[in-house]
Amino acid sequence: MTGEAIARAAELLDGADSVCVSTGAGMSAESGVPTFRDEDGLWSKFNPEELATPQAFARDPLKVWAWYRHRRQKLAQIEPHAGHKVLADWEQRVDDFVVVTQNVDGLHHRAGSEKVIELHGRLDVVRCTGCDYEIVGLDDLGEDPHCEQCGERLRPGVVWFGEMLPAGALNAAIAAAQHCDVMLVIGTSGVVQPAASLADAAKAYGGAVIEINPNRTPISALADVWLDSGCGAALKAIDAAWGRLES
Ligand code: OAD
Repeated sequence: MTGEAIARAAELLDGADSVCVSTGAGMSAESGVPTFRDEDGLWSKFNPEELATPQAFARDPLKVWAWYRHRRQKLAQIEPHAGHKVLADWEQRVDDFVVVTQNVDGLHHRAGSEKVIELHGRLDVVRCTGCDYEIVGLDDLGEDPHCEQCGERLRPGVVWFGEMLPAGALNAAIAAAQHCDVMLVIGTSGVVQPAASLADAAKAYGGAVIEINPNRTPISALADVWLDSGCGAALKAIDAAWGRLES
């Protein structure tokens, strides 16, 4: 990560009236949440087809629930890191500032960000497969929880492979990407659609793209600035450089 790249990122943000941040699992990595496709990521140990599809849940709900109970338990023990807090501060600095995340851990909210679009749902939400009953929180609901309203099976409130994203969230994310002056893409491998194409949308509508990721991704080629660094260090460095521009 060069000083030049940091300065360029700060200049782009300083000149922007509208900023859209798109985050993936790498954003949460420094809080201790494992990513999916890195060398020691979740999908190197587990098969998503057995754990994160509607078919898997229909076949073996207890197995799927065991995995989500474990992830919910872990979530109760983690905290947002300094990078999450930098993004929450920037929301106060830029009038039109929104975070679009593929993460289901709620860490952006917990760090103080208010305008957050969650594309893949939330781990701390459980919903009924039969009615509109929903429970918010990380309480352990047991190995095969059922709805107290209609008796049907409850499921994790996340989006699985093969499922539609919440339409409102997706439309709002696309609108934000098309509208922004700067899109900041942080910690995503850029391979899961439709989130991966938000950077293309920003670029197509004239926005600049800044990417923070220690590894190159399909998004790196279209990025105006690529910061090859972990997100905490990069966000703090940009924040300091932006502060110097304003003083
Ligand atoms: P991935 O695990 O595919 O990618 C994580 C990215 O974060 C990689 O490009 C890493 O290089 C980068 N990374 C790792 N540590 C980082 C750090 N400290 N700072 C910045 N970047 C870092 O995760 P996603 O792209 O978010 O969906 O995955 C997208 C979706 O695939 C997830 O939401 C999940 C998964 O399957 C569903 O389960 C539906």
